[in-house]
Amino acid sequence: MCGIIGYVGPRQSQDILLAGLSRLEYRGYDSAGIAVIDGDGGLGMRKRAGKLAVLRDDLASTPLADGTTGIGHTRWATHGGPTDANAHPHLADDDKLAVIHNGIIENFAELKSELVGEGVAFHSETDTEVAAAMIGREYVRTGDLVAAFRAVVSRLEGAYTLLAMHEDHPGLVVGARRNSPLVIGLGEGENFLGSDVAAFVEHTRKALAIGQDEIVAITPEGVEVTDFSGAPVEVEAFEVTWDASAAEKGGWSSFMAKEVSEEPEAVANTIRGRIHEGRVEIPELDGMDAFLADIDRILVIACGTAAYAGMVGKYALETWTRVPVDVELAHEFRYRDPVLSPRTLVVSISQSGETMDTLMAVKYARSRGAKTLSICNTQGATIPRESDAIVYTHAGPEVAVASTKAFVAQITAIYLLALHVGRVRGAVDPVVAVEAVTELEAVPGKIARVLETEQARIEQLAHWMADTRSVLFLGRNVGYPIALEGALKLKELAYIHAEGFAAGELKHGPIALIEPGQPVFVVVPSPRGSAEMHKKVVSNIEEIRARGARVIAIAEEGDAAVLPAADEVLRIPLAAPMFEPLLAVVPLHIFAMGLAEAKGLDVDQPRNLAKSVTVE
Ligand code: F6R
Repeated sequence: MCGIIGYVGPRQSQDILLAGLSRLEYRGYDSAGIAVIDGDGGLGMRKRAGKLAVLRDDLASTPLADGTTGIGHTRWATHGGPTDANAHPHLADDDKLAVIHNGIIENFAELKSELVGEGVAFHSETDTEVAAAMIGREYVRTGDLVAAFRAVVSRLEGAYTLLAMHEDHPGLVVGARRNSPLVIGLGEGENFLGSDVAAFVEHTRKALAIGQDEIVAITPEGVEVTDFSGAPVEVEAFEVTWDASAAEKGGWSSFMAKEVSEEPEAVANTIRGRIHEGRVEIPELDGMDAFLADIDRILVIACGTAAYAGMVGKYALETWTRVPVDVELAHEFRYRDPVLSPRTLVVSISQSGETMDTLMAVKYARSRGAKTLSICNTQGATIPRESDAIVYTHAGPEVAVASTKAFVAQITAIYLLALHVGRVRGAVDPVVAVEAVTELEAVPGKIARVLETEQARIEQLAHWMADTRSVLFLGRNVGYPIALEGALKLKELAYIHAEGFAAGELKHGPIALIEPGQPVFVVVPSPRGSAEMHKKVVSNIEEIRARGARVIAIAEEGDAAVLPAADEVLRIPLAAPMFEPLLAVVPLHIFAMGLAEAKGLDVDQPRNLAKSVTVE
């Protein structure tokens, strides 16, 4: 996820671009850049790895000639690490054309080899530079930037917002969008483009929404929007109802609220480009088939929420690869004498890629001869750099300290890994693999449904429970790590005692905790999976209810067996049992956030915690 801004008008654009980027920085902050067409009609560009402040300082010490047409970008790396060269804008047509991009162009490798064949030289590892070169090639033919966009967009697969300007046309910025956001800001004698209204809300609250697969051209005098074939389209106008101070959170009350709302997108973006004709093929693992076919053990290491994603992943890895899997907390692994071999694959999971416990465990595993693979959300972070292979999650930047959207992206990535390794080893039946892929592709829509149908009710429930002093969470099988995650989120956000248990463990001790009024969340497995397991969890509910517990069940739509036993039932859409964790966790994230908000706590920065734990 990246932030994009474009400006045309009478004012000097650099300050407008930098101010817009600072409000878009929540969308990505590993590098930034701007391009400006100056008063003499020349195109100037500056881009730097690091936070926006690095670019700002650079421009302050050696300014670009100012001009009144410009584009700016703040990046969260996907293709190519966060370096100066990979930062946007990217140039083409002898540096007269500048392009910025948000999204992932899935077929960029194939397009790049076509361009390399024509003698085009590339200066970065990005997919964006490929789009820039293609727009440049088309522009040279016609001298028409909009026509060049029209010719190129139909060849791009994946998700993208692209903005471009050319020094032959001061006062014009052209944009296009597919599966990625872009809005227009309407000013007086000036116009804006932005990834969201945060880019320009300081200057205007009048906005136009650009639809899917549309191209827009802005000039100081007006705005023209067409579809990809060039036919004019009607655009929907709206008034922005919030002001610049709320802008950096995109209008949400907290980063966490925003990030929970992005859980569908986090899953969809992590899948993107990794499924080809129903088969999972992770391009980053090309060349590893021989090793993956020969592994005899997988060890997953991580901390906190990432470790719970690993615990969920164990079920999928064992089912689809038939390789034994252990999951271990990184700090525990680090100080023992583990049995590892060159046939062991150690998978680390980390949102930040900087967690010291996980990093040290990865180094330790390597020093003991194992191969390491990093599942990480932050391009260019230390853990992926220290690993033999990397599978990035594409959840976008996670700003709130407590991890939410990264968790669902981590589970998605480990499922993709399991299906990839299972295919390479011939361990997963191709029909089963296709069914799993279909289920996975349906998850974003199902999470969106949970948010749509249950969020308000769960927030209300959290409000009623604001004085609760202790909450228990039960789950079984893939639902067990979800119970642990529900408890962890509640502890860290709402500062109340919370414990997660394997439901089967209840009778071995924890049932003694049940007293009248004790709230217990129960993640109920689908009766369509193992009927036996479903029956057992329903009996658990009956047992605790008989002792006075207040039961809140998370159960699939249509599961009537839970109704007589539970006080509240939160519904999730039907999914194959392996995919339920991705849905069942959503109500628990909403609940923890809602309860913390009801207590008036800061959900983005809970006490005593840091986003990235860079000490052991
Ligand atoms: C909990 C949470 C932490 C992190 C853990 C690992 O909400 O955010 O438990 O999951 O500190 O962090 P990463 O994934 O950055 O290695």
